[in-house]
Amino acid sequence: MSLSEGAASRALRPQGPAGGEALHVAIIMDGNGRWAKQRGLPRAFGHRAGVAALRRTVEGAEALGVGRLTVFGFSTENWTRPQREVSEILGLMKAYFASDLGRLERGGVRVRIIGRRENLSSDLLAIVDEAEARTAKNEKFHLQVAFNYGGRADIADAARRFAREVEEGRARASDLDEQRFEAQLSTAPAPAPDLVIRTGCERRLSNFLLWECAYAELIFQDVYWPDYGPDHLREAILEFQSRERRFGQVAVDDVLAAG
Ligand code: FPP
Repeated sequence: MSLSEGAASRALRPQGPAGGEALHVAIIMDGNGRWAKQRGLPRAFGHRAGVAALRRTVEGAEALGVGRLTVFGFSTENWTRPQREVSEILGLMKAYFASDLGRLERGGVRVRIIGRRENLSSDLLAIVDEAEARTAKNEKFHLQVAFNYGGRADIADAARRFAREVEEGRARASDLDEQRFEAQLSTAPAPAPDLVIRTGCERRLSNFLLWECAYAELIFQDVYWPDYGPDHLREAILEFQSRERRFGQVAVDDVLAAG
């Protein structure tokens, strides 16, 4: 059963950390291969079903109080998978935008691709550029797709960009602080995720948004990604809302108790 918008907004208090801002949810969409294997199907079928799950999740997210959704589509490490599987995933990425871009554009979704653009074929780059350009003025919902993305690679690239500024005399090493560094990441200027969800029964970050996850709440859901949808997202957000985020500070009750 999928959630109606009304039911979702009644059930949830869609609040981000900063005074009523919409939530930023990031998802590691894991388990496509195992989903397919369980059914005696080639892995590609799992990835195809994964795209359908992504579509359902994007469509349901806004009604659940999410303003920004970042998904891990393809990592810098995924190139080492068998060539056939890599081609299948790249093909699915192209097909997703070919079929859904119009709907995303009309629905007020701003699309952004994060990660390294080097190594991407010219046709994929053209699709990525088109998706970003056509949705650039949209503000209702942000969909960030991490593609050819690795957290460490992104941090190394950011360091190199800042080092270049120093080399060229546009900055001094002593100018570097967290804010200035963060501005060099491929995720800038988007806010950090409030909640990171990983599906697929594993409990690790796998090089996803390493800098940005510093204070994110982590939720692991034991469902393979192709079976995911708005009901699972709703469960994760309810769990998120039951947590106390302290950002390194002490709880208000503890401050009062300490006098
Ligand atoms: C993880 O499952 C999934 C991926 C590495 C790829 C995710 C890709 C898609 C959902 C399709 C294309 C993306 C977009 C953005 C349209 P896995 O293969 O690691 O599964 P396993 O751990 O069960 O083997």
